[in-house]
Amino acid sequence: MKFSAPLLTAALASVARADNPIIQTIYSTDPAPLVHNGRVYLYTGHDEPGSTTFVMKDWRVFSSVDMVNWQDHGSPMSLATFSWADANAWAGQTIQRNGKFYWYASMRRRNGAMAVGVGVSDSPTGPFRDAIGRPLVENWGIDPTVWIDDDGQAYMYWGNPGLWYVKLNPDMVSYSGGINTVTLTTAGFGTRSGNPERPTTYEEGSWLYKRTGKYYMVFAASCCSEHIGYSTGPGPTGPWTYGGVVMPTQGSSFTNHPGVIDYQGSSYFFYHNGALPGGGGYTRSVCVERFTYGANGSIPIINMSKDGAPQVGSLNPYVRQEAETIAWESGVQTEPCSEGGMNVLSINNGDYIKVKGVAFGSGAKSFTARVSSATSGGKIEMRLDSTGGTLVGTCNVPGTGGWQTWTNVNCAVGGATGTRDLFFRFTGGGGELFRFNWWQFSQ
Ligand SMILES: *[C@@H]1O[C@H](CO)[C@@H](O)[C@H](O)[C@H]1NC(C)=O
Ligand SMILES: *[C@@H]1O[C@H](CO)[C@@H](O)[C@H](O)[C@H]1NC(C)=O
Repeated sequence: MKFSAPLLTAALASVARADNPIIQTIYSTDPAPLVHNGRVYLYTGHDEPGSTTFVMKDWRVFSSVDMVNWQDHGSPMSLATFSWADANAWAGQTIQRNGKFYWYASMRRRNGAMAVGVGVSDSPTGPFRDAIGRPLVENWGIDPTVWIDDDGQAYMYWGNPGLWYVKLNPDMVSYSGGINTVTLTTAGFGTRSGNPERPTTYEEGSWLYKRTGKYYMVFAASCCSEHIGYSTGPGPTGPWTYGGVVMPTQGSSFTNHPGVIDYQGSSYFFYHNGALPGGGGYTRSVCVERFTYGANGSIPIINMSKDGAPQVGSLNPYVRQEAETIAWESGVQTEPCSEGGMNVLSINNGDYIKVKGVAFGSGAKSFTARVSSATSGGKIEMRLDSTGGTLVGTCNVPGTGGWQTWTNVNCAVGGATGTRDLFFRFTGGGGELFRFNWWQFSQ
């Protein structure tokens, strides 16, 4: 979203060096991470700015190799993908099987109830198409989670107020054995007080996985506001034993949604809150924390933080990097690019993009950027460590005759050594200055 001026000032003052929320160009929800080929793909929902109810029309994909710089892949699946759906692009999860990616997601059947649909793609970043042309399940069909067990049997759980599952067939788009109802007991899902109709803490947003021989069911608990709790079991259908609170009620969103992965030897917990300017229960943002399991497999209590997960490794500036790979930004947005992928737009005087942990090594000598401008362009300042930090180069961006008319600009760089946070600070006159597709330094 475009921050208004007072909010922009507040964001600069208080959160410019933080990594959470990890997406700032839009409000993002219901994180569902997937590790594939050494990269973390993050599937999310999308809240519209200024919403006072759930206004959700499409889903989004981001990816990262380092947990702090996240590349925007846009919206490869939306309500328009599903001809039978008309509203409520709610939570989902994507998994890979036999080279295809299946994205299970909640949405409202046209003039009907919530249902789970399934999109399919040959690529983790889509585009996704409707795999079956109708809902996979209805029956309080929200918040699906899918896990493929060691024996190849896939399970899909979902639901609020109940918890249901089906055994998916190997085609991943049909199921056998009917819909199974999990019996929610306080031993299995914890005790909720003051709500006789919902005696256990289970609410919605389940996340199923197996790790070192134990099956985990992590879920949004109690209401409202929600916290995150978890249960464990000896098999993918339980029996479940309540494990405790994972994330307390925090962060000015009355919902939350877990996503748990292991990546590069560490464990990560994804969730959402209302921490961006203008954020709240209907304008949420995805965050991530690193955590360590207890020796007995317990999940510790994880607090929301602004600092987020530490960077895994560093970012190589000597290969092409997308402008939409961002640790933190102020003022910019993204759109599909005529050259493929996405580009950054809405660049105005004073806006910036932070890229974290850039490994310049012995020193960068020059910089190339792929840019366009339908007006008279502007400048890209490259600064280290902060928006006011050491200036290591300035590139002039000319008018190119169109917002999707791309050209390369080059400029000299001096003093960029070691591993530093890089800030692209944009300057120029009034209005939108230019657009930015990709960049690369050379030595
Ligand atoms: C597992 O370990 C944690 C501490 O790491 C402890 O609080 C918990 O009670 C243990 N759970 C079981 C079932 O032993
Ligand atoms: C989480 O926050 C609570 C309340 O501020 C604090 O007591 C607790 O130590 C924190 N836990 C961790 C793991 O940081």
